[in-house]
Amino acid sequence: VTARVLDGKRLAAEIRAEIAEEVQQFRLATGRAPHLAAVLVGDNPASQIYVRNKRAACEKAEVASSLLHLPPTTTQGKLLNCIETLNSDSNIDGILVQLPLPEHVDEHAIIESIDPNKDVDGLHPINLGLLASGRPRFVPCTPAGVQEILTRSQIDTCGAHVVIVGRSSLVGRPLALLLSQKSASADATVTICHSRTRNLAEHVRRADILVAAIGRPEFITGEMIRPGATVIDVGINRLDDGRIVGDVQFAGAAQIAGAITAVPGGVGPMTIALLLQNTLRAAKRRLRAR
Ligand SMILES: NC(=O)c1ccc[n+]([C@@H]2O[C@H](COP(=O)([O-])OP(=O)(O)OC[C@H]3O[C@@H](n4cnc5c(N)ncnc54)[C@H](OP(=O)(O)O)[C@@H]3O)[C@@H](O)[C@H]2O)c1
Repeated sequence: VTARVLDGKRLAAEIRAEIAEEVQQFRLATGRAPHLAAVLVGDNPASQIYVRNKRAACEKAEVASSLLHLPPTTTQGKLLNCIETLNSDSNIDGILVQLPLPEHVDEHAIIESIDPNKDVDGLHPINLGLLASGRPRFVPCTPAGVQEILTRSQIDTCGAHVVIVGRSSLVGRPLALLLSQKSASADATVTICHSRTRNLAEHVRRADILVAAIGRPEFITGEMIRPGATVIDVGINRLDDGRIVGDVQFAGAAQIAGAITAVPGGVGPMTIALLLQNTLRAAKRRLRAR
């Protein structure tokens, strides 16, 4: 490996420690900890692991968390009622609905039912709209995590050409909005690529900073990368043999890149740390609004 490995696990621990300190101050001021409510519908094993990891991170930072685990047959109406209860519960600061939801539930309707002031995943159209208009409030956790990795690793995005492969509303698109913002920790020139992009390899090779959010194991190979580029791998793919790999072929890419994130241990832990940060921010905002 010649590239500098950007250690998301270490950076996430750093952020959690900072949050834990602020949580103590919040607790002194209010007599309670910020509180995240997670809603999990069904028994998707990956979702169960994600929720468990998120709650474990809450515990480490002394953020309170509760889990509402509903059966896979839960109707849309019942789920909407549950969200409404959490919206009006003054002890709950943040609401996280773990995606994907079962097919019979309209995901958009559920996300839109979350109080935007408690939308710590940043997926409500109001929060995405604020991000699009350059006034971010709650930024989706994975894009926010990618930005934090870059900032904390002193990788300058100002004027840099960032190429993002993937345009999902969870990762690629909000990340493009975030990094193209007029701001000291952004100011990038951003290209978004997707499955219809012509000459993908040409775009990828022009990246100063390449972000892969594709969902295809080891899709980006070393020869596609510009020498010295920073490579951020968002992908989490489980192979048949049980191994977890990213969207970038790490060994090859690390020979060419200047800096690179690994999978696991890169973007994943940062996503969770930023969820805690959004929860703390939501708690503070609600306190100020009282
Ligand atoms: N680290 C984390 O915390 C975290 C969080 C969220 C997601 N993830 C992982 O990140 C990956 C992406 O997640 P997602 O939710 O954004 O996935 P998604 O909704 O499936 O989006 C994938 C994107 O990749 C594009 N794509 C697919 N095949 C392509 C190809 N051959 N060439 C160019 N573009 C291609 C798709 O293009 P079209 O739009 O044209 O279909 C789409 O825009 C997954 O592995 C997921 O598990 C990780």
